[in-house]
Amino acid sequence: MRTFSFIDETRGAMRDARAEGKTIGFVPTMGALHEGHLSLVREAKREADYTAVSIFVNPAQFGEGEDLDRYPRTIEKDSGLLVSEGVDLLFLPAEKLMYPEGNDTRVVPGEVASHLEGAKRPDHFQGICTIVLKLFNIIEPDIAFFGQKDAQQFAVLSKMTKDLDIPVDMRECPIVREDDGLALSSRNRYLSEKERVAAPVFFNSLMEAEKVVIAGERNSKTIKSLMIDIISRERGAKLDYVEIVDANDFSIIENLQSEVYILVAGYIVDTRLIDNVRIRIN
Ligand code: PAJ
Repeated sequence: MRTFSFIDETRGAMRDARAEGKTIGFVPTMGALHEGHLSLVREAKREADYTAVSIFVNPAQFGEGEDLDRYPRTIEKDSGLLVSEGVDLLFLPAEKLMYPEGNDTRVVPGEVASHLEGAKRPDHFQGICTIVLKLFNIIEPDIAFFGQKDAQQFAVLSKMTKDLDIPVDMRECPIVREDDGLALSSRNRYLSEKERVAAPVFFNSLMEAEKVVIAGERNSKTIKSLMIDIISRERGAKLDYVEIVDANDFSIIENLQSEVYILVAGYIVDTRLIDNVRIRIN
């Protein structure tokens, strides 16, 4: 694996790969890699000839009072994992390279970024769109791989590529979970032992919701009440939102039809977690 911190050398390597006729798969990350990230890398390896990964903790997507400073940075370990997976290139830019002084152009996403995570975290999706577009412009991938874990992020970025005519094929990969259902996340390491025991409550509420949908329930309010009830019974868990959206455009729906995401966000004491399930309605 070749590791680069600068744009020119990265562009050079990508140009060489393309000249050899290779298709480029790209997995953008913020590091502290876990099996969720690695599942994206493996999918990229399966689908493309050349796999590029980036690690960059993007300050533009963190809000005031969020965890930018304490976000885990485990670059040596991450690098070893990516070598074992057979990744071809790791792009590891410094903050000053991505945002040099005077860099103030931003990509402003539309409607799909206005609610849920977008409402709770102002400018979060603007920061994500900006960095991902910059990374796309440096790597120029054919296919980019993202996790369903951040379903709204995927919807926002897909809309960006469509609206701005960015020639990248966007892939959404399934959520990788612990045995008890907790979705893997770099933030899980903030949880104390006791908090870790409580953390699957969000997943459990999603599973109960899925059960009633499979049994025929179509009323969004009823499903959300059921989830709110389950979460309220877990001490230490504090609900941020539950919502049900159309999987195509991420609009909030009253009655379930075609394909939906049921989404949940909440806190286990101070740690904010998000999770979702995607369900196809017959
Ligand atoms: P990060 O949180 O590091 O996640 C990188 C990718 O891994 C995202 O596409 C995310 O959805 C995916 N991922 C995280 N946990 C997962 C899990 N349990 N199962 C499957 N996929 C999972 O998301 C970001 O970084 C940033 O916003 C980024 C897109 C890199 C822009 O800065």
